[in-house]
Amino acid sequence: MLVLCIESSCDETAAAVVRDGRELLSNVVASQVDVHARYGGVVPELASRKHVEAISVVVNSALEAASVSLARIEGIGVTRGPGLVGALLVGLSTAKALAWGLGVPLAAVHHMEGHILAPLLEAPLEFPFLALAVSGGHSHLYRVDGIGRYRTLGQTLDDAAGEAYDKVAKLLGLGYPGGALIDRLAAQGNPEAVAFPRPMLHKKNLDFSFSGIKTAVLQHLGTYQQPLEDQQIADIAASFQAAMVEVLTRKTLRAAEQEGLARIVVAGGVACNSGLRAQFGALAAEHGAKVYFPSPALCGDNAAMLGVPANYYLENGRHATNLVNALSSWTLDMAGAD
Ligand code: KG4
Ligand code: ZN
Repeated sequence: MLVLCIESSCDETAAAVVRDGRELLSNVVASQVDVHARYGGVVPELASRKHVEAISVVVNSALEAASVSLARIEGIGVTRGPGLVGALLVGLSTAKALAWGLGVPLAAVHHMEGHILAPLLEAPLEFPFLALAVSGGHSHLYRVDGIGRYRTLGQTLDDAAGEAYDKVAKLLGLGYPGGALIDRLAAQGNPEAVAFPRPMLHKKNLDFSFSGIKTAVLQHLGTYQQPLEDQQIADIAASFQAAMVEVLTRKTLRAAEQEGLARIVVAGGVACNSGLRAQFGALAAEHGAKVYFPSPALCGDNAAMLGVPANYYLENGRHATNLVNALSSWTLDMAGAD
């Protein structure tokens, strides 16, 4: 089955063609990062307008890159939520119009189920598995028993991991989005220079809290009398990253042990992080676990990742009607039930 997928939940307009929910034929992403960078974060109204400008071009590019004409598309998959409602509506309206015009079924997908199922586009992966979903809006641990069968085991009580990265980057004057910038700087710094806290690490539950690390960075910056030198900024970046990585890896491995799961997926924009990848690589074998990271193009927001759940829902008759609406917040546990 040839499925055209469309994603517009935040500041990336994306379309992809995926065959049989496994084979990626094209994956086109138009980023709006430059538009929002000057505001230090995503401006929802601007995001919606930019999606409107980009969506047709992006969909056509995805079809062209896949060498597939619109007439051959057999189903449409689209992100229904969570995300910015105005942004989501652009992708959802486009998807509904295409499905109706082509007379093909529509599947409405949860953004995070796309993220956590993305590894299936690259390698065979059996259920059940544990998923750590870390992005600008999520830091969740899920048990995944199959497509549409998700259970939240833990989540952040305040900032998401990507949000903490972006806020700390702002404090350090690095620009937006800051995750990748901190990651790069951290490689030149000393991770033991500053002992930032590891919130919730010793709590028995599987929740996270990242706002305390961010506040600790702010307080630490207040102790300097002079403007920071480059090496001092790199040391703070490395120390912040060490704290984030330690909390994320240790809690994830604890969750895997508690659930008796030996397969772990790490997904979402923060899964690009080199420290996180290295630390999971080092610790996984010790815990008898295998960790799956999507390749970087499938970690950040993209439409190809929707292909796995969309294909499954389309083949199993779980079609969305033209009345389906966008959801700004939506628990993943409910996604498959709808
Ligand atoms: O999944 P994503 O592209 O969009 C959302 O659904 O939120 O994730 C974006 C987040 C941003 O907060 C960004 O700073 C972060 O992922 N990010 C990183 C890295 N690359 C992107 N965080 C840490 N290290 C990176 N290398
Ligand atoms: Zn995302």
